[in-house]
Amino acid sequence: MERIGSLERYATFAGSAVLTVLCFALLMFSAWFWLPFLFFAALTLVGLYDVTQTRHAILRNYPILGHMRFIFEGIRPEIRQYLIESDQDEEPFSRDERSLVYQRAKGVEDKRPFGTRERVYDAGYAWLTHSVAPKHLEMKDLRVTIGGPNCAQPYSASLYNISAMSFGSLSANAILALNKGAKMGGFAHDTGEGGVSRYHKEGGGDLIYEVGSGYFGARTPDGAFDPDRFAETAALEQVKMIELKLSQGAKPGHGGVLPASKITPEIAEARGVPMGVDCISPAAHSAFSTPLEMMEFIGLLRERSGGKPVGFKLCIGHRREFMCIVKAMLETGIVPDFIVVDGKEGGTGAAPLEFANHVGMPLIEGLTFVHNTLRGAGIRDQVRIGAAGKLVSAFDIARVLAIGADWANSARGFMFSIGCIQAQACHTNHCPVGVATQDPLRMRALDVGDKAQRVANFHGNTLKALAEMAGAAGLDDPCNFLPYHFMQRETSGEMAEASEVFGYLPEGFLLRGEEVGGGYLERWNRASTVSFDPVA
Ligand SMILES: Cc1cc2nc3c(=O)[nH]c(=O)nc-3n(C[C@H](O)[C@H](O)[C@H](O)COP(=O)(O)O)c2cc1C
Repeated sequence: MERIGSLERYATFAGSAVLTVLCFALLMFSAWFWLPFLFFAALTLVGLYDVTQTRHAILRNYPILGHMRFIFEGIRPEIRQYLIESDQDEEPFSRDERSLVYQRAKGVEDKRPFGTRERVYDAGYAWLTHSVAPKHLEMKDLRVTIGGPNCAQPYSASLYNISAMSFGSLSANAILALNKGAKMGGFAHDTGEGGVSRYHKEGGGDLIYEVGSGYFGARTPDGAFDPDRFAETAALEQVKMIELKLSQGAKPGHGGVLPASKITPEIAEARGVPMGVDCISPAAHSAFSTPLEMMEFIGLLRERSGGKPVGFKLCIGHRREFMCIVKAMLETGIVPDFIVVDGKEGGTGAAPLEFANHVGMPLIEGLTFVHNTLRGAGIRDQVRIGAAGKLVSAFDIARVLAIGADWANSARGFMFSIGCIQAQACHTNHCPVGVATQDPLRMRALDVGDKAQRVANFHGNTLKALAEMAGAAGLDDPCNFLPYHFMQRETSGEMAEASEVFGYLPEGFLLRGEEVGGGYLERWNRASTVSFDPVA
């Protein structure tokens, strides 16, 4: 559908309207024209309803035509066997995962009849161990406090928040719906590297202000970091935390470009960039180039934001480099308040295939490594860890909480909640549901009021399911999940406790120079604070 050009998608509607008038005119020649007249008139009324209703963005963008999608979806189970081999593998998120989000967003029954579709004897299948003495957890506000000893304004964050997606990669209506939904549900919305836009401000929801290598909203005319402009943005009451972006899982080590054609006056305003010129996010930061300088920069962001929680987001690449950063924390005494680990399986508006498929560490391994390195350095209690990478169900969240995260973020989960149908056209500006486009006509299809409610519903219903899972395991709080609560099937077919694979390493083992395997100590000894380059 997204390949149908900008106005052609209205052709069926316009055509039926013209034919209605024509048939009406021809009625004076023959009563036979009643049949086609009634047919086209009915079609035109359907089209009129489609462009005016607010619940289905696909119908607002593809009046009449859009119904084909629902018809196919409706008969899909019948032709499922035939389709399953053809397209299931091509989708980043399975239909099961997406329909769970859609149901929770709509607030409709999200139960499954007839039992699981999971292949429980396949390698990689994972499950939670429940208790014979389950507990009933009242649906309380599941939160974690972020802010270490040097933080003047700690933030009480929800266990589930909207991950970074910039205004520019997403439409104004998408940003507004996400932010209003965050406001309704009392959770946070990460701005992404495109700065704080008027739509973030209009929504009023809590913000995590992301500072990427483009320093959007905090830059000098030539693109360098501008501490005064940063302080202005960081001082906004809505801004609760500052996130320095080192990399994202879908394209680590690769910058980004927002083509000049996609830059609107509002995007230029939010980013502090000129119109008519490609907007570049360089692959590397210019404000620092060594681990020590990076810590100094974190210290500067904390000072100029009035002591709000400051942290950084990365996808693990060279593990030694992360250890360089941790060593610099110990040497400078500047310890970030949080670290967000993004998995290789994460999403993006656009990335080269090689990067999307084969650069960066998957979430589970990256998270375990970060968690254990901070434990090894004796500073895990000062730093909260966020995790992102295909976390759309309560099981996904529970598992990362067990392995070492303190909260979870989702980007595409919340995109689904505002109507994304995974058309994978984010890079074409032809998003069929008005989520990832700067085309005002396509964006109009996304009804902010309706979608903001769905964002809040999805969040609330997902956390409700998380509380139920914790109760089933006999826990009082999902934050008490530990690796031994999870089992998984190994390639050998054997089952293993997650603690055997993703166990917690002893506190301070790196400081004591204790060998625990996994290459931790060897890399630690090669890590330097003065350079990211390998020590000769
Ligand atoms: C459309 C889109 C835009 C994104 N933009 C950013 C960004 O500006 N900054 C960033 O750190 N990550 C960005 N990401 C990555 C997400 O924040 C997130 O870390 C990743 O997609 C994993 O989460 P998910 O699997 O729930 O999508 C973007 C992802 C998507 C899908």
